[in-house]
Amino acid sequence: MNRQPMFPSKVAKGDSFCNRTEEKKRIRNNMDNIQHTLIISPRRYGKTSLALQAIHESRIPFASIQFFNAFRDEIVIQRFLEGLNDLFSQLLPKTKKAFLKLSELVRHAKLSLTISGLHVGLDLKPLSKNPVDLVKGLLQDIDRLLKKKGKSAVIFFDEFQDIVQSDISDELQAVLRDFAQLTDNITFIISGSHRHLLTKIFDDSNKPFYKLFDRIDLKKINREHYIPFIQKQAKLRWKSLLPDVALQEILNLTECHAYYVNRLCSKLWESDSLPAFQDIFKVWRELAEEEFPSIANDLSSLSKNQRIVLQMMSTYSVLREPTGSAFLQKVALSARSVSLSLTVLEKTDHIERIESGFRVIDPVIKHILTTDFTNK
Ligand SMILES: Nc1ncnc2c1ncn2[C@@H]1O[C@H](COP(=O)(O)OP(=O)(O)OP(=O)(O)O)[C@@H](O)[C@H]1O
Ligand SMILES: [Mg+2]
Repeated sequence: MNRQPMFPSKVAKGDSFCNRTEEKKRIRNNMDNIQHTLIISPRRYGKTSLALQAIHESRIPFASIQFFNAFRDEIVIQRFLEGLNDLFSQLLPKTKKAFLKLSELVRHAKLSLTISGLHVGLDLKPLSKNPVDLVKGLLQDIDRLLKKKGKSAVIFFDEFQDIVQSDISDELQAVLRDFAQLTDNITFIISGSHRHLLTKIFDDSNKPFYKLFDRIDLKKINREHYIPFIQKQAKLRWKSLLPDVALQEILNLTECHAYYVNRLCSKLWESDSLPAFQDIFKVWRELAEEEFPSIANDLSSLSKNQRIVLQMMSTYSVLREPTGSAFLQKVALSARSVSLSLTVLEKTDHIERIESGFRVIDPVIKHILTTDFTNK
């Protein structure tokens, strides 16, 4: 049987999905009111998992369109078509007569049923060659179909910032904006992992999406929510609870960063015996060693000053005064150099500004930069 892992490294769903009750409620409420949602957070906090879980629980017909690396127009359009094809096939009946009747409402593509074995699928052949007209037309078609059926649907665009690189980006954004403003039947959920780029699209008053979305700044999962969740998985694995100190150590080291909680726990859960406190740091170190090549690669794109600032910041849980004399002395840089570095590090999502100052986002980067990795 193909069971979902307890601590997946990819999308979390079902029993591997922890909490996010408030966020799911908010998204659900938005869907009910055809209010579009934007989900923003640092990398790997759980945006995709949250959107898909909220949609799944709502049981509303949906298309999930992934724009990762969709830098060229053809790819953007291809991903659109795949997603919309999927949505059409959830909406259209599979008996020939009913299908023909409803598919008359679809004016911008030729639709036909495909049958392979017991599976009835759908083939969608767009009529227009112009990509922007095509998207516009098909969205109108789906809207018409939904209206006729008295239903609503969701379209989830993930890694949305990647379309910015395509030539049709501006036109496409304008089409989506116009549609988003008028539709009574379709809710958009948009997410992406480049906060800086997304914020540029959504917060710029000259850009089409300004103020049209309810923006969720997704935070980390709370400790109080992780504790019962992890203990439940421990019970399932070892029929026993983790010692409290071990559990606290997991949450301290990972700083409740969803991806690292899952990476660390999935390694710990491989053991046949219940992990003890001292096992946690040992496995965390192994994990950091595994992550080291990709982190070294990521850090190599930073300048020397940026790396110095990041390294020194990694010794703080929150750096309150980055241009205060104490920190400047430690990094041996001018206030201007530190400020410039902070701007870049924030843009690249290595650090984030919080109320009380700045913090390094990735706990493994922090660990690597504050431990001597060459001297094992
Ligand atoms: N609610 C959750 N409960 C448990 N684990 C979660 C939850 N949300 C996310 N995760 C885990 O965190 C990791 C990142 O999840 P996901 O891919 O959804 O994040 P993301 O923010 O979309 O990442 P990216 O920035 O790379 O697009 C995965 O290992 C996933 O299983
Ligand atoms: Mg994602």
